[in-house]
Amino acid sequence: ENTLRNKSSTSQIKSLKGNVGFSCFPDQVYLKSIYDGFKFTLMVVGEAGIGKSTLINTMFENKIFPSSSEVTTTENIKGVEITSMSADIQDNNVKLHLTVVDTPGFGNYLNNDNHWQPILENIESRFDAFLAQENRVIRSKIVDNRIDALIYFIKPTGHSLRTIDIEFMKRMHAKVNLIPVISKSDTLTQEELTAFKARILADINFHSIQIFKPTIGSFDDPETTMDTKDILNKIPFAVVGSEEYVKREDGNMVRGRAYPWGIIEVDNEKHNDFTQLRKMIIHSHMEELKDYTDTVLYENHRTQKLLSMGHVQDNSVFREYNPAAQLEEERKIHEAKIQKMEAEMNAVFQQKVMEKESKLKQSEEELFSRHKEMKQTLEKQRKELTDKKKQMETSVRPSSPMDKKPKKGLFNLS
Ligand code: GTP
Repeated sequence: ENTLRNKSSTSQIKSLKGNVGFSCFPDQVYLKSIYDGFKFTLMVVGEAGIGKSTLINTMFENKIFPSSSEVTTTENIKGVEITSMSADIQDNNVKLHLTVVDTPGFGNYLNNDNHWQPILENIESRFDAFLAQENRVIRSKIVDNRIDALIYFIKPTGHSLRTIDIEFMKRMHAKVNLIPVISKSDTLTQEELTAFKARILADINFHSIQIFKPTIGSFDDPETTMDTKDILNKIPFAVVGSEEYVKREDGNMVRGRAYPWGIIEVDNEKHNDFTQLRKMIIHSHMEELKDYTDTVLYENHRTQKLLSMGHVQDNSVFREYNPAAQLEEERKIHEAKIQKMEAEMNAVFQQKVMEKESKLKQSEEELFSRHKEMKQTLEKQRKELTDKKKQMETSVRPSSPMDKKPKKGLFNLS
């Protein structure tokens, strides 16, 4: 029978040897988080000895997981336990508060039925704790222990998914960002891996299991888009973990696993998909993982919870996370904005044209009346001049001798 026993967390301060990548987050996220630091909670699930501790320690370049001798052997565990480890990691002065939640005991028995249950309960209880804090009147200092991502370790069998894998992922996908990885991929050849990945994806599709797939943002530059496509192509990630440094043929020390026939390099993209997995979780899509947890997974859980408690959900505030629909909506809003702007510009243009037209008409009328006025003045002047001319003509015309009358006066002797 499964038992759920939450062990108390252990916390350590770690500082990185190398550059992990969260200090190179996109600017806006970076600036927001540079003061408080980032917080990330990662759950790992897979049977004993599958490579969980090695991969996490490899990913964060530090001993997040204590060595096997320091922990209780899984043989003593009855059922599945939930334990957590926390570490503050410093990357170029940016702090990441990492919590790794381990699930020792998972898949270790002949009868592994219901092994998903304590894990699901743990994920849900974290949602419930967050909800309880959100519902408080004073909501300052909300402690967020929700699981941001779950790495599910698939055994490198080379066949297809096992019943336990399918059952687990089906039970979990609506509650957490599922990241399936094929562990110890160095135990399979390239051909075996390609076929194995194809069968895993076919199983995932067949059972309608939702795994986390990073989205390509509408404003992503070509380089980021290419990186995301590269990550998408590698799902499910076939990984190799190793905390050891081995000597390569060229004399360089690299993290890897040495075999009689050669070296498998952890950080070499040609050898395995560790680089893409790490980039996705720690660098390029950490915010998306957190965001999806908050806006979709938690929101759905909250809605179900409130409905089951008799509350009616206000769908107008329901934040459904559907990247494609969101993009379509954004496009429509943008188009509507453009149309509104065009209509406004048209209205302004029409208004201006009308104003100009009326001004022109006004000045035309003014001109016409001035012209009329001037014409009238001229007409008047012409008439006056004609009259004057007539007068002058009359006054200067010489009189006929017949018309001459003797002038009265001195010489008029008659
Ligand atoms: P528990 O702590 O028992 O749950 O095991 P775990 O899942 O944490 O596995 P761990 O990381 O302790 O690895 C178990 C063994 O597998 C160790 O001997 C590792 O060196 C080895 N191992 C880890 N990763 C790899 C890998 O990628 N390839 C190979 N070949 N071996 C690996």
